[in-house]
Amino acid sequence: MRILLIGSDSQIGWELRRTLAPLGTVHAPLRSDLDLESTDSILRVVRGTRAQLIVNAAAYTAVDRAETDVDTATRVNGDAVGILAEEAKRGGAVLVHYSTDYVFGGNKAGPYTETDEPDPINVYGHTKLLGEKRIREVNPPHLIFRTSWVYGARGRNFLLTIRKLARERPVLKVVDDQTGCPTWCRLIAEATAQAVAKSATAQGPDPAWFQEHGGLYHLAAQGSTTWYEFARAILGGDEGQARVKAIPSAEYPTPARRPRNSVLDSSKAERQLGIALPDWRVGLALCAEDGDVKTGPD
Ligand SMILES: NC(=O)c1ccc[n+]([C@@H]2O[C@H](COP(=O)([O-])OP(=O)(O)OC[C@H]3O[C@@H](n4cnc5c(N)ncnc54)[C@H](OP(=O)(O)O)[C@@H]3O)[C@@H](O)[C@H]2O)c1
Repeated sequence: MRILLIGSDSQIGWELRRTLAPLGTVHAPLRSDLDLESTDSILRVVRGTRAQLIVNAAAYTAVDRAETDVDTATRVNGDAVGILAEEAKRGGAVLVHYSTDYVFGGNKAGPYTETDEPDPINVYGHTKLLGEKRIREVNPPHLIFRTSWVYGARGRNFLLTIRKLARERPVLKVVDDQTGCPTWCRLIAEATAQAVAKSATAQGPDPAWFQEHGGLYHLAAQGSTTWYEFARAILGGDEGQARVKAIPSAEYPTPARRPRNSVLDSSKAERQLGIALPDWRVGLALCAEDGDVKTGPD
């Protein structure tokens, strides 16, 4: 299978390099070769690789910066995704794409399912929702995985930030009124490969499989927690936990508003794809055991 992996330097993309490798030949262009802001570069690379599977793990993920950089976020998270969908359809490829819990506004009392109406409250969420819509409009064989609170050994994420701050500050103030599902990027990449493997034939991914099983899925860790509890779990031990102080979001103003509740119900993926991620605490323990995280940049 000829696989085009876009965003191979993102948290999820880095892990996808390894998990997709057994499924075929992975072409992972640098951003300098494929820039989602350049239609020409998208067309050149997608057509040049004659990809049978396009996996888009790149995005404009700077949630706060997006508030004042609406055009770039819209081009990368919305327009470029539409072009990828058109190219997938034109070339007979299948498309795997990631979206976010931030398509939801946070007012629901319980976990969000795929049938809940999105109502984003920040620019990032709006642009990611636009990307989802563009894929559905063009409708190539596709999977959209909405995931949440992604962390891992590389890049910018909450786990690495908390570990760094814990070395620099005696007390860490962390918001305790936003609830979600922290999800280790490696587990997302492994689940993605599992899903793709189900569709694989000797000739490549089977469009008929996507006809039956494709669409939108929530793919996040089970259970839920707050950033405050997540920070305490990251630091572990009585001493580490005692240094974390709970504050309301009002005491930590950010340019972009965040949903109070963005817990994803991922049971559809379990029912229809046979894929389930473990509880967030299990994911965190596995991640903490991993050599890359122990020795990685922090
Ligand atoms: N992080 C989260 O908590 C979270 C939560 C829910 C959903 N998601 C979704 O999961 C997916 C992966 O997220 P992630 O956290 O793994 O990503 P990430 O680590 O923030 O990396 C994003 C990647 O996209 C690349 N990128 C940005 N603009 C680009 C452009 N114009 N052309 C090509 N590449 C570009 C970046 O390149 P540079 O390094 O050069 O900037 C970077 O490698 C995204 O769809 C994201 O929306 C993430």
